[in-house]
Amino acid sequence: MGWAHRRRDHGGVIFIDLRDRTGIVQVVFNPETGKDVHTEAHKIRSEFVLAVKGVVRKRPAGMENPALKTGEIEVLVSDLEILNESKTPPFSFDEEDISENIRLKYRYLDLRRPAIQQNLFLRSKLAAATRNYFNDNGFIEVETPFLTKSTPEGARDYLVPSRISKGMFYALPQSPQLFKQLLMISGFDRYYQIVKCFRDEDLRADRQPEFTQIDVEMSFITENDIINIMEGLMAEIFRHCLNRELPLPFPRLGYFDAINRYGKDNPDVRFGLELTDLTNILRESNFKLFREVIAKGGVVKAIKLDNTSTLSRKELDDLRDYVSIYGAKGLAWARVNAADWTSPIYKFLSTEEVGNINKQVSASAGDIIFFVADVPRVVHDSLGNLRLHLAKKLKLYKPDDLSFVWITEFPLMEYSEAEKRYVSMHHPFTSPYNEDLSGLTTSPDKVRARAYDLVLNGSEIGGGSIRIHRKDIQNQVFSVLGLSDEEARSKFGFLLDALEYGAPPHGGIAFGLDRLTMIMTGAESIRDVIAFPKTQKAACLLSDAPSKVSIEQLMELSLKIV
Ligand code: AMO
Ligand code: AMP
Repeated sequence: MGWAHRRRDHGGVIFIDLRDRTGIVQVVFNPETGKDVHTEAHKIRSEFVLAVKGVVRKRPAGMENPALKTGEIEVLVSDLEILNESKTPPFSFDEEDISENIRLKYRYLDLRRPAIQQNLFLRSKLAAATRNYFNDNGFIEVETPFLTKSTPEGARDYLVPSRISKGMFYALPQSPQLFKQLLMISGFDRYYQIVKCFRDEDLRADRQPEFTQIDVEMSFITENDIINIMEGLMAEIFRHCLNRELPLPFPRLGYFDAINRYGKDNPDVRFGLELTDLTNILRESNFKLFREVIAKGGVVKAIKLDNTSTLSRKELDDLRDYVSIYGAKGLAWARVNAADWTSPIYKFLSTEEVGNINKQVSASAGDIIFFVADVPRVVHDSLGNLRLHLAKKLKLYKPDDLSFVWITEFPLMEYSEAEKRYVSMHHPFTSPYNEDLSGLTTSPDKVRARAYDLVLNGSEIGGGSIRIHRKDIQNQVFSVLGLSDEEARSKFGFLLDALEYGAPPHGGIAFGLDRLTMIMTGAESIRDVIAFPKTQKAACLLSDAPSKVSIEQLMELSLKIV
């Protein structure tokens, strides 16, 4: 039984590719061996639902199809039942570039396509491997509420109005953060949950308003325990789903090293192209532009492409437009020759400077060097992204390369110019390093957090921290964050109370299950690994959510649309 995927009429004999979730098999209607079924088979159109009976036989010599798993056999049909008809689908399943809006509107048809089905099968396997791993390691899966209070992940909440308590709202959780900490205080020790999280934020190719986390919390542990157990999880997932052995342990990189060398805290380390700091050798440069940027506290950094004659002059110029997206005011480049450079800035630099730069970036003839001078944030943003852009364009990695890296030693807080106060880099329950505690009030931006992110191929697939389990430190952190006692109480009072009843030292992490699936399937968009995803505008084109509700419903909730 299955769907008519494709039909071919070969001078009397009708061939149907019959499809179900396991694949395709060719079924044959031959007028000479079954006149009535052959006549009936004339009615079959794309996506009709069929039941056939017949003899499985080897295909005649020369008619095998090596592209098909079942390509050596076919079914000669003796009985046919058309179980249901189908309208002509709005797109052909073989088309390459079907508009995504059409795909999402007819998602149930889109989900018939084998490629998308494979993504969901892999996703299911991933979830099964995760559950097995945690169950084998003494974890308990506990569900936490969806109708709850605002959680501290820093995005906007999705609110749900209460009918019974007029004018009051629940918030859908941005993560189970507070509840998993409460479960540690309750003594559960090792918790996990595969759970939906809801965040009303700007959407991108790897972000959805509702997404799934593999959420974990453990007591009586350190960073290393969490990291070891999570590396074991990743190894198990890749073994079970892709039959791949991951080399353990994963490398670790401090936050500032990541920024300095890759320009990002989610570096793609499948390839080199690292940033080199040239600020010191250009401080007194003859090139006024560089000299002035540095004098104002800026930096000059460079990346070097090995022996690349494939970039044309025009391509080099186009890269300037690319970095301008990230705020760079220019992109200088230099093609390194045996004795000199071909470069728009060669004439501004002394021979000594050129020599020093060559040495610093280890350039040899044929290489190309790119420079950006600006404030550190712009330099890191533009070169960090140029690095990714060049690596993709020049195919500096293989499609199935996998590079995991832990990012550690994040700053606990950073100063927000917009809010004119310190804000948590992770969330306000993240523990500072013990030895940095004394600086909490004097130099908050120097305090390191006991936080860690796991990055795979340049994508942040997970993040977590050791938590604060003492109320005095929690209060100190709130006060540096400019959260008054009252605010803290009204937001997280129940957690603060619980911390006073024997909270064990604890910590945890959460992985983005959708993002991980995306990387494992090679999907371009997070929407391709979610059965019923939302568009960039957070709409579901299939069900037409969000939508208007009736006056009666609004009245029941005491709500009025303004
Ligand atoms: P965090 O906010 O870093 O941590 O989220 C954990 C992981 O979830 C994924 N993720 C998303 N995936 C798809 N769409 C989104 N909108 C989205 N937002 C986040 C990312 C991210 O690494 N409670 C803490 C974890 C902890 O401290 O234990 C938390 O939620 O892959
Ligand atoms: P100009 O003298 O403005 O033509 O600049 C000379 C070269 O320096 C050009 O190749 C510019 O692209 C480059 N350039 C300009 N501003 C910057 C900057 N902030 N960082 C790096 N290169 C720059």
